[in-house]
Amino acid sequence: MSSKFKISEVKALEIFDSRGYPTVKAVVRTEGGYTGSFSVPAGASKGKEEAVELRDGGKQLRGRRVRRAVATIKELIAPLIIGVDVRKQEEIDKIMIEADGSPNKSNFGGNSILAVSIACAKAAAEATDQPLYRYLGGVSANLLPVPLLNVINGGLHAGNELSIQEFMIIPADFQTFKDAILAAAEVYHNLRDYLVSKYGVSAKNVGDEGGFAPPMSKTTEALDALLKAVEESGYGGKVYLGIDCAASSFYDQKSRKYKIDGKELDTNDLMEFYIELMRDYPLVSIEDPFEEEDFAAFAELTRRIGDRIQLVGDDFFVTNPKRLKKGIEMGAGNSLLLKVNQIGTLTEALEAARIASKAGYSVIVSHRSGETIDAAISDIAVGIGCGQIKAGAIARGERIAKYNRLLEIEEELGKSASFGGKRVLRIG
Ligand code: PGA
Ligand code: ZN
Repeated sequence: MSSKFKISEVKALEIFDSRGYPTVKAVVRTEGGYTGSFSVPAGASKGKEEAVELRDGGKQLRGRRVRRAVATIKELIAPLIIGVDVRKQEEIDKIMIEADGSPNKSNFGGNSILAVSIACAKAAAEATDQPLYRYLGGVSANLLPVPLLNVINGGLHAGNELSIQEFMIIPADFQTFKDAILAAAEVYHNLRDYLVSKYGVSAKNVGDEGGFAPPMSKTTEALDALLKAVEESGYGGKVYLGIDCAASSFYDQKSRKYKIDGKELDTNDLMEFYIELMRDYPLVSIEDPFEEEDFAAFAELTRRIGDRIQLVGDDFFVTNPKRLKKGIEMGAGNSLLLKVNQIGTLTEALEAARIASKAGYSVIVSHRSGETIDAAISDIAVGIGCGQIKAGAIARGERIAKYNRLLEIEEELGKSASFGGKRVLRIG
């Protein structure tokens, strides 16, 4: 066998993410001179059971430096995988998982492992002379995802009083990704004008994911603003709405109540609240509606409205095959949010996607609130053909990188490209 695929070098360095905190970048090189790199994103509203991020601790940059993760890649991971065929993704990931030896990657760090895992996939794509989406998905990887754009930020992502973290526009009723993203951009600009006219110029400040962070405090106020902007843009009935509640962030463990919209709701009240929202707005996707351990409530909501709306598990499932299987068994949710850094290897993330699809769950590939300009998730979304991607608003370089990459892929695919459209979202 030619040795051009053999890993010859693994480098790592500390770079910054979009919130100004350090993160890890790994670069993998093969004997044939092919390279791939990956820069790891970071969440703010993290699920409790996510893979552990290895950070230095201490005072500097609030303990968030990643020199230990960089050293782990160079000193511990590199010697284990040098000489391995870079196309053997499962083998490489298994080597790292076993050497780490913990259930949640706490020894090497999910960040160290993931950086190398995806860098290998990119190097393998290079070495086999194909784009990453084609390397991952083969000849049938032609489906461009419907974008879910978080255009009003609340919760832990913004300095306003909105309890719900993300208010999304979902341009689903279009023929191409390009038409969909153009419509989303139109809505985004009209939303800004509307917010400025109603709340003053500071309402156009943006939060971590590029959505506006207006001084609102009520869920319906945000949804009304989205609806207005959609209608103003002439896309009523074509651009739908979605929310990511990230409900663990407004759940009070002590009182077992949800603090939302200035009220304290119990689980049943909150369920009724969502059902009402669904009646009043063109909502087609609700993510993490309850705190992440309440699978029973998630299952109950799914029984009640799951045939008409996408119910997404993010913190619930943390892209973890085990937690996802539990959800599937209980009938909790009908959709998986796939975040590669929640689980820490490409192999396990792809396994989670396979399990979800087999159970009839939809899959949405997702960014994190702390990102870099790395656009691998766009290729992953097309590679697995899941039909949906969540990558923030149409603003801020680290968000735009993902959408721009999708525009490139659609152009490259030409006539063979297709678009997720309404069918991936159970609409109509
Ligand atoms: P995070 O938020 O990246 O801060 O965890 C994104 C989300 O909850 O979907
Ligand atoms: Zn979420």
